[in-house]
Amino acid sequence: MEQQSTVKKKRFPLLRVLAGLALAVLLGLIFGGEIPWFSDTPPIEILNDMDDQFKVKPQVGSTFYADRMASRELVPNTFPRNGVLYPLDKSDFEFVDSIIGANPLQRTDFVLNRGQNRFETMCAPCHGNDMHGEGTVVKKGFQQPPSLLAENSRGLTDAHLFHIISAGQNLMPGYAEKLPVNDRWTIVQYIRSMQESKPVE
Ligand code: HEC
Repeated sequence: MEQQSTVKKKRFPLLRVLAGLALAVLLGLIFGGEIPWFSDTPPIEILNDMDDQFKVKPQVGSTFYADRMASRELVPNTFPRNGVLYPLDKSDFEFVDSIIGANPLQRTDFVLNRGQNRFETMCAPCHGNDMHGEGTVVKKGFQQPPSLLAENSRGLTDAHLFHIISAGQNLMPGYAEKLPVNDRWTIVQYIRSMQESKPVE
């Protein structure tokens, strides 16, 4: 009898210690945020890998530059290494027909889908998905653009649309460095197809 009880006494603490350790590790992981289904808090960072970087996030202020703007102006006369500089200026509007010419892309399903995708990503924030000019940015106070289904836009040539997208117009910024040439032409096709299928406003 005595022997049996000593054997039990020896095993029991060992199991308890192991169970205690396992529980401690589990709790540590949970409260450290490493088990994400359980906790919203950011994980405790032992090695932070690339979680924190010395970089600028969009639309954020900066304490580094004197003017407190994190987004910097482009360096004059430079363009992205793989980009193409759009050679015309906003004010070249009247010459674009002779310089740019017709849309090189046929109106295929692929072109229209791509155009819609790019329009709804890049243009709809101001112009709205339905092109009426009541996008989210406008609802927050930005100047309302004219409807792209109105007579004026319908009267613009493809080259004019391409030029406005590339160089901008008055308050609207140009998108030449954000949209490759082909994407701009897919948008032109998409605007045309909307204008043909929707009533004039
Ligand atoms: C930041 C808001 C904004 C974004 C984004 C934007 N636009 Fe505009 N757009 C405007 C404003 C404002 C005008 C009116 C400019 C003016 O006063 O002449 C305008 C004018 C236009 C016009 C001329 C319409 C006319 O009747 O004169 C076209 C065409 C146009 N935008 C197309 C686009 C396309 C295509 C995109 C996406 C690549 C785009 N815009 C992105 C704000 C925007």
